[in-house]
Amino acid sequence: MPSHDDLLATLRQQIQAEPDAARAMSRAVATLKASVPRYSWVGIYLLDGNELVLGPYQGKPSPHTHIPLGRGICGAAAAEKATIIVDDVNADPRYLACSVETRSEIVVPIMKGADVLGEIDIDSDQLAAFDDSDQRLLEAVAALLAERMTATRTD
Ligand code: SME
Repeated sequence: MPSHDDLLATLRQQIQAEPDAARAMSRAVATLKASVPRYSWVGIYLLDGNELVLGPYQGKPSPHTHIPLGRGICGAAAAEKATIIVDDVNADPRYLACSVETRSEIVVPIMKGADVLGEIDIDSDQLAAFDDSDQRLLEAVAALLAERMTATRTD
């Protein structure tokens, strides 16, 4: 498994080399899922009005393709504009179940200034799978994606 520094370098290169935001998001999702075995489900939700709409993802299909702001851990992270790590999803009343195997989750908002554009959502089948280093990695990836999503296309 690559170190988080190496993984971030790969993701930076991939995202910056891909002018199309949708393709940059899909590549980032695929690279994260393939590189970190404890990341069981990796997806990106995009904010559309008052709801989060599921974009690219890898893992089992989720029943939660549209999540209103404020609902679930995803909706809470978007409303609070802050990363949320849940060590035990079954102990968190906000949790919307995606798969019975999921034990922990991290949700990282993709922000442009004070605006939420979307979020990176990762589930793990392991309890307490996410720590500060996952948060740092994914917040850096979210910033790269925000740049790509809001960049003026020149091609
Ligand atoms: N668990 C999320 C819902 C999305 S699925 O994990 C893909 C939540 O509680 O908001």
